[in-house]
Amino acid sequence: MSSDPATAAVRIPRHLAVIMDGNGRWAERRRRPRAIGHRAGARAVNVCIDFCLERGIEALTLFAFSSENWGRPEDEVGALMKLFLGALEREVDELDRRGVRVRFIGERERFSEAIGRQMSAAEDRTRANTRLHLTIAASYGGRWDIAQAARSLARDVAAGHLDPDDIDERALASRMSLAELPPPDLFIRTGGETRISNFLLWQLAYTELWFTELLWPELDAATLQRALDDYSGRQRRFGLTGAQVAPAPTNEISE
Ligand code: FPP
Repeated sequence: MSSDPATAAVRIPRHLAVIMDGNGRWAERRRRPRAIGHRAGARAVNVCIDFCLERGIEALTLFAFSSENWGRPEDEVGALMKLFLGALEREVDELDRRGVRVRFIGERERFSEAIGRQMSAAEDRTRANTRLHLTIAASYGGRWDIAQAARSLARDVAAGHLDPDDIDERALASRMSLAELPPPDLFIRTGGETRISNFLLWQLAYTELWFTELLWPELDAATLQRALDDYSGRQRRFGLTGAQVAPAPTNEISE
């Protein structure tokens, strides 16, 4: 997939990035353990994937577990790990059947061997699929991503394969997660907080942001459609002027 800002201002975003927030509060409001909220959140993931497939969105990136989430209470982290493993075992066949390519970004080494193995198996199994590029950010942080990209360039410099003068935005971008996808066109965060929380810091530079109070387990197609409608009414300028990016008037001759 190539990235072309000039063609990005279409009605349907090519790449949607989502922070799935509000699972814990959804459960707490029902006086249930937070883990129940995450389980309900996993169902909402399917709502989101279905929506992308129906609307022809090419790439979906979900923030499932941040670098900082490892610091949550042990039982909640344990419940999330169990949920990830279960979802990987349960959903991959169906995702594959529907033409979804699954990938993971983040510090994979921090997960158990069993989860790491399932992640690699899901990636291998769905590698040839092109209908939807689904990326799960797990043990991911935007700052980690920038640091690992810088480290990768530094290694090439140290090995004599790269001249430091050749390090520019393009070089760094090529080492960032999601380098093979166009940057997200639209970012959605549920749960009422209006921040990016160390998600795709580099990749979201010109992404349109959309926030909703709705908690993630309550997600439905109507909410996602509202975000798309809002997105399609926005003018994306990428640092240019409105006149520069406005579509040229058509030269129709009326007789
Ligand atoms: C944020 O809500 C959500 C998470 C930290 C976990 C996200 C996980 C899922 C949606 C389920 C499984 C995902 C996959 C890809 C199978 P929160 O717990 O911070 O909610 P709160 O702000 O209400 O406390």
